[in-house]
Amino acid sequence: MTQDMSGVGEHYAATGVVQRIRAALASLGPEDRPLTPRELGTMDQFHTRGHAATAELAELAGIESTDRVLDLGCGIGGPARLIAASRGCRVVGVDLSEGFVEAARYLSLRTGQQQRVQFHAGSALALDFADASFDVVLLQHVAMNIADRPRLYRQIRRLLARGGRFATYDVVRGDGEVLYPAPWARDARDSFLLDAQATRETVEAAGLRVRAWLDDTPAARSWAAQLKVAAAAATPATPGLGVVMGPDFPLQAGNHARNLLEGRVGVLMAVFDAV
Ligand SMILES: C[S@@+](CC[C@H](N)C(=O)[O-])C[C@H]1O[C@@H](n2cnc3c(N)ncnc32)[C@H](O)[C@@H]1O
Repeated sequence: MTQDMSGVGEHYAATGVVQRIRAALASLGPEDRPLTPRELGTMDQFHTRGHAATAELAELAGIESTDRVLDLGCGIGGPARLIAASRGCRVVGVDLSEGFVEAARYLSLRTGQQQRVQFHAGSALALDFADASFDVVLLQHVAMNIADRPRLYRQIRRLLARGGRFATYDVVRGDGEVLYPAPWARDARDSFLLDAQATRETVEAAGLRVRAWLDDTPAARSWAAQLKVAAAAATPATPGLGVVMGPDFPLQAGNHARNLLEGRVGVLMAVFDAV
């Protein structure tokens, strides 16, 4: 299947994102006061269940301080910062969006983590790291933007060293039509969902074997139900993803909640061993 990456690129183009983030963070204190990853709120965790999901995925993958970790489709770097801080490792992030990479570097300066996390612009489908460069590859809410899954998972397998783990947390196809715009795509042309079983078969065909497998859909539905309550009460206490994604984000988030609650999509958390 071929894919025009420009649609995905446009969806995440994020012009002026550093200025918007700087303005949103001004209420937390002066520019030179170091921030903790937690103070960034939900703004830099661009996936279902935010910080909690990242922490659970890191635990499931058994990330240790000596592991070399690659976060593919790292967004503005929230998962990389959280994992570097909580597991004591170094993390390299790669993202298609140059605006997101710029924001990831800015936020890592604000949290004082620029020695532990590094970010590069690039495509997950064309990475020039040497074979076996990493012990863990993370992929959180990215696969649904990628049509050529066999190539994606082969790339990931190539990058993993002996004993390496691939940790994925992604939206999967459920029953019924998906409502758009979703947080990952304006319409169906930029969305390439597989169901959980097809995801497993495609990953395993690339030379990886399942080690841990969790249907995260029930937890995701509870989270979505709480989001709807919070949205109705209009009580955003910390900076949110709207800062990054702009004024359409409430509509995208509302559709994501409906897609989850109505079973149109599910969420999969899984870890695979390189074999
Ligand atoms: C929903 S966001 C998730 C960001 C991050 N993983 C997180 O959980 O906070 C999806 C990200 O995948 C990136 N992306 C999509 N297709 C990509 C590709 N082919 N290569 C690298 N990044 C890609 C987007 O630019 C976007 O930042």
